[in-house]
Amino acid sequence: MTIQTANLNQVNPYLPFGDRQDAPFYGKDILSVKQFNHADLNYIFGVAHEMQEMVRRVGTFDMLKGKILTNLFYEPSTRTSSSFTAAMERLGGSVIPINEVRYSSVAKGESLPDTIRSLECYSDVIVLRHPETGSAALAAQYGRKPIINAGDGTGEHPTQALLDLFTILEEMGRVNGLTITMLGDLKYGRTVHSLARLLTLYNVKLNYVSPELLRMPADVIKEIGDKLIPQAEYTSLDEVLAQTDVLYVTRVQKERFENPEDYEKVRGSYVITPELMTKAKSDMIVMHPLPRVGEISMDFDDDPRAAYFRQMEYGLYVRMALLALVLGKT
Ligand code: NCD
Repeated sequence: MTIQTANLNQVNPYLPFGDRQDAPFYGKDILSVKQFNHADLNYIFGVAHEMQEMVRRVGTFDMLKGKILTNLFYEPSTRTSSSFTAAMERLGGSVIPINEVRYSSVAKGESLPDTIRSLECYSDVIVLRHPETGSAALAAQYGRKPIINAGDGTGEHPTQALLDLFTILEEMGRVNGLTITMLGDLKYGRTVHSLARLLTLYNVKLNYVSPELLRMPADVIKEIGDKLIPQAEYTSLDEVLAQTDVLYVTRVQKERFENPEDYEKVRGSYVITPELMTKAKSDMIVMHPLPRVGEISMDFDDDPRAAYFRQMEYGLYVRMALLALVLGKT
């Protein structure tokens, strides 16, 4: 939706008490990491810290009491949909879950704009996951309520990138100066497309390690290069593991392959094991957006460098912050 910039002194009679039209993210869509600057990130992460503190102290509280979120998922999800549900419920709001579009009017051929315009009659914010790149932007074009992109095909996954960055800050204490190595399916993995773009706000070095077939798309590499971020591509992890501060592992996105034989060629290309990780720094971290399908051995999970389950928890606080902010809380 377009942000309401009308006279802010004029009281909106439909705005419940305590909501702020002048709050920085009020009514905004979250479609791409490209919309954020440093000040935005500091603000969001400050709120995420407060959310963490409140969850520790009281568990659930009433900040979004009476608000309704629709979780509209056209693709499978465990973490993203349940973390948005948990985030909304921890803030006292409620959720309309639409995970099985097979059973909804979408199966009758309803268009995305019509589905959005219907669901926003019943809810204050819509979280959308959809297999087509650009679908969240399309939804936002038709919707009046904030749309949060929870993954649009191979395009972006901005809330994942925000929680990934928050994880790096919390775990490493800084982002500037770090060498971040992205490993696996860099072609189809939307989380790495968003994270690489978001990291251009910092002074980092990026390594991309993938099979030839799954290289980081040229347009993403160009965008990052235009921001003067040093980046290099490899097919072998050995070349960069010892210098890596953050190893961001991804799953090969089987469902996005046009040719199943290609999937067979690249599956199992890289596996993180305790033995391999003896070559890495002792103060680095290993991240993964999850789900994993064999690219990190379970034997590694007890290593303090394995940050992927902590990463999920940080995601709850970041998503609580985002929901509160787009709904006008400061
Ligand atoms: C990711 C996704 O959906 O893009 N999952 C997630 O949101 N945590 C990664 C994946 O599916 O591999």
